[in-house]
Amino acid sequence: MSLEGKVALVTGSSQGIGQAIAIKLASQGASIVIDYRSHPEGAEDTLQQVKAAGGNCHLAKDHAPDGYVVQADIGSVEQVQNLVNEGIKHFGQLDILVNNAGMERRAPFWEVTEKDYDNVLHVNLKGSFFAAQALVQHLLDTKRTGRIINISSVHEELPFPNFAPYCLSKGGVKMMTRDLSVELGPYGITINNVAPGAIETPINTKLLNNPQELNALLKNIPLNRLGKPNDVASLVAFLASDDASYITGSTFFVDGGLLWDYHEQ
Ligand code: BGC
Repeated sequence: MSLEGKVALVTGSSQGIGQAIAIKLASQGASIVIDYRSHPEGAEDTLQQVKAAGGNCHLAKDHAPDGYVVQADIGSVEQVQNLVNEGIKHFGQLDILVNNAGMERRAPFWEVTEKDYDNVLHVNLKGSFFAAQALVQHLLDTKRTGRIINISSVHEELPFPNFAPYCLSKGGVKMMTRDLSVELGPYGITINNVAPGAIETPINTKLLNNPQELNALLKNIPLNRLGKPNDVASLVAFLASDDASYITGSTFFVDGGLLWDYHEQ
């Protein structure tokens, strides 16, 4: 499973799942465009770890993967397009897009503000859509194939009370993947979703610090633990590789069994 010679853009890669994905892809030989919105120090940390992972992957020096940091708010289409173009300009090509940047806001449905609704939908859905479009335009221009992997959520299927805009955005990402798989298949471009459950990341900080809520959640996870960012990153690395070339339009859950857990007690 090698990604030698490939270039991957991972949105939101200054922390959490995005950071783990960036490092994992580099360990398989890919150069990485690292994107951050507001944590330059996190992006710098990712860059150092990408370089170290790349240095360890036993490729000749002129093939060794590298990293490149760009600041972009995925909620802005203009900044998304600039991010993709900067990455292409720096590395001369882009092969893999991981739409990882995401956000959520907790509020009962009747208290959701227009601002929070727009922020969540713009980052999780609109940004992913236009990042994919910019990659596809580049691949068509250069007559090359590529990979799009969206980090969705169990909540592309499962209701999540008090997080309505988040669920809407992830449901949209599910349909985006199905629709684009049909449109992009003839060009050899695949698109899939990786859908995490509860993973130990900054998006979950509040939950992780609330033992009562955390225990209630653990009761719903058959494997009885939260996931680690690396549990998600390994699957992304596989989907990005040539070994996954016949897989498109699908969602793969990484949730310890959370989605299908139902019991009466
Ligand atoms: C959300 C988390 C939540 C988890 C399981 C994720 O998509 O970001 O806040 O704990 O799903 O419900």
